[in-house]
Amino acid sequence: MKGLILSGGRGTRLRPITYTSAKQLVPVANKPILFYGIEALAASGIREIGIVVGDTHQDTRDAVGDGPRWGVTVTYIQQEAPLGLAHAVLTAEPFLGEDPFCMYLGDNLILEPLAPLVERFRTDKPNSQILLARVPDPTQFGVAELSGDKVKRLVEKPKTPPSDLALVGVYMFDASILRAAKAITPSARGELEITDAIQWLIDSGHTVRPHVIEGWWKDTGKLEDMLEANRIILDRLEPRSEGTVTDSEIHGKVVIEPGARVVRSTVRGPAIIGRDAVIEHAYIGPFTSVGEAVSVRNSEVEHSILLEGTSIADVGGRIESSLIGKNASIYRTQGKPQSFTFMLGDGSEVGLI
Ligand code: TTP
Repeated sequence: MKGLILSGGRGTRLRPITYTSAKQLVPVANKPILFYGIEALAASGIREIGIVVGDTHQDTRDAVGDGPRWGVTVTYIQQEAPLGLAHAVLTAEPFLGEDPFCMYLGDNLILEPLAPLVERFRTDKPNSQILLARVPDPTQFGVAELSGDKVKRLVEKPKTPPSDLALVGVYMFDASILRAAKAITPSARGELEITDAIQWLIDSGHTVRPHVIEGWWKDTGKLEDMLEANRIILDRLEPRSEGTVTDSEIHGKVVIEPGARVVRSTVRGPAIIGRDAVIEHAYIGPFTSVGEAVSVRNSEVEHSILLEGTSIADVGGRIESSLIGKNASIYRTQGKPQSFTFMLGDGSEVGLI
């Protein structure tokens, strides 16, 4: 069984971060989201992983490498354009061959271990096994209608949902999905949809099995979801301190990485302070991930993700529910006239009080 992680795509919902980097590399609790997917596949016993990449392929290659740190071999598969999940599968055909595989959307996080599901797929040998989760608002998702232990129909963002079972971003397929992907045509948004390919399997008499997961999962394609993922993962960290803490208060679950310095500050967990970060005369509140070599001075940050190299100094109010990219700088200017000064990338968002 092989693994296929989709890490291309446009990432329009996470601009401007995705203008310069892959959304799958945004860190959750200081670890790129993509790494959670690789870990999940590796933990399920899969050893050969293909990663579908797009324009941001170099970043992904640099961050992931060839896979030995997870005990897997990684093959990169270049998708010429983000033409849909089923198109990504077709692009991966030379890597997949005739083998069954587990497809994992690179911006998804699933807490449930995949090993039992992979095992069940191996022994039962359906043509496909899809993961479903009960959601309060199915109109926002691909939704499955079941008939006994089989999937009868999939509907994309239905106005009148046939169930509350949403498609989770992990799927298992045998080689019949390649035939399905070749048989379907692009949807109204111009993409080869995986839901259409799975529906093709059902309509042509193949077996598609559902598996309803109980645990938490998230598609982190949007800021709120990214922050929620950060909350959930931070809450599961074991506290430890390998940095230096001087004249400061540390409350709750806090991880302080080597080389980090916390001086005359309060850190209230769950939170992580990355390697070589400096927190000085500052407050870091719950659900905050402070990246490597970030500095926060004379400022307050809560429920946020700060990427590596960013510096925040002398901000009057509290920064909250924010995602701040690499090497950004937020500071207070002293001169007159007193004004806001911005240099923002396209599509940036600034909320003032
Ligand atoms: P999506 O989040 O559905 O699509 P997107 O990345 O283009 O994002 P947005 O809607 O914000 O523009 O994609 C799910 C995952 O699959 C994600 O990790 C990107 C990946 N993907 C590909 O690898 N190739 C593709 O053609 C598409 C559409 C997505």
